[in-house]
Amino acid sequence: MPTTIPSSGKLLISSAQISSRIKAMGQQISADLAGSRETVLLMVADGALIFSADLGRTISIPLYMDQIAVSSYEGTESSGKIRLRTKPRLNLSGKNILLVDDILDTGQTISYLISYLKQFKPDKIYICVMLDKPSGRKVPIIADYVGFEVPDKFVIGYGMDYDGLYRNLPDIYCLD
Ligand code: IMP
Ligand code: MG
Repeated sequence: MPTTIPSSGKLLISSAQISSRIKAMGQQISADLAGSRETVLLMVADGALIFSADLGRTISIPLYMDQIAVSSYEGTESSGKIRLRTKPRLNLSGKNILLVDDILDTGQTISYLISYLKQFKPDKIYICVMLDKPSGRKVPIIADYVGFEVPDKFVIGYGMDYDGLYRNLPDIYCLD
C-alpha cells in the first residue's frame, strides 16, 4: 500500500523545488569551502538522512561523511531533553564540520551539538539546515545555509517524521 498523507497535510514544498534549491546550496557550499581545511559533512540522524544524501551529491569539494544522532521529539512536541544516541566516528580535529540537520526550530538541538562538538577541536562548524522556523527560536542560533524558511507549523516528509512515519515522502507537507 502506498504511503498516505494525513488528511490535514498540505503541500508546502515540492520535490522539484527541493532539488533545485539543494543544487544551489551545494554550489554555494563548494565555493565557500573550496581550498580550505578538510570538510566533514556531519549528518544529524535520522531527520537529515535524505537531505544529507542529496546535498552531499551536489558538493564538489572532497568531502568526508559521518553521522551523529540525537533524540528530543515525542509526537509533534519537542521534549527539550536532548539525548546523544550516536557519536561521530571520524577524527574531527582541525577539520571544517558542515553540520547538516533537517530543521532548525527552537535551536536547542544545534546549540547542544555545537557545545558537544567543540571538544573535538574542529577548525570551524558551519550550520546547514533544509528548513528554518525562525519564529520557534528559543536559543539564538543562525544557520550559515538554509534551504527554505517555513512558518511555525509541524512539517513532515523529505526526512521529517511524525512519530517515525512519513520520512520517505518526497515532498514536504505541513500539518494543521
Ligand atoms: P530544535 O531543537 O527545536 O531546533 O529542533 C530541531 C529538531 O526537531 C530537528 O532536528 C527535527 O528533527 C525536529 N523538528 C522540529 N520541528 C519539526 C517539525 O515540524 N517536523 C518534524 N521534526 C521537527
Ligand atoms: Mg532531527
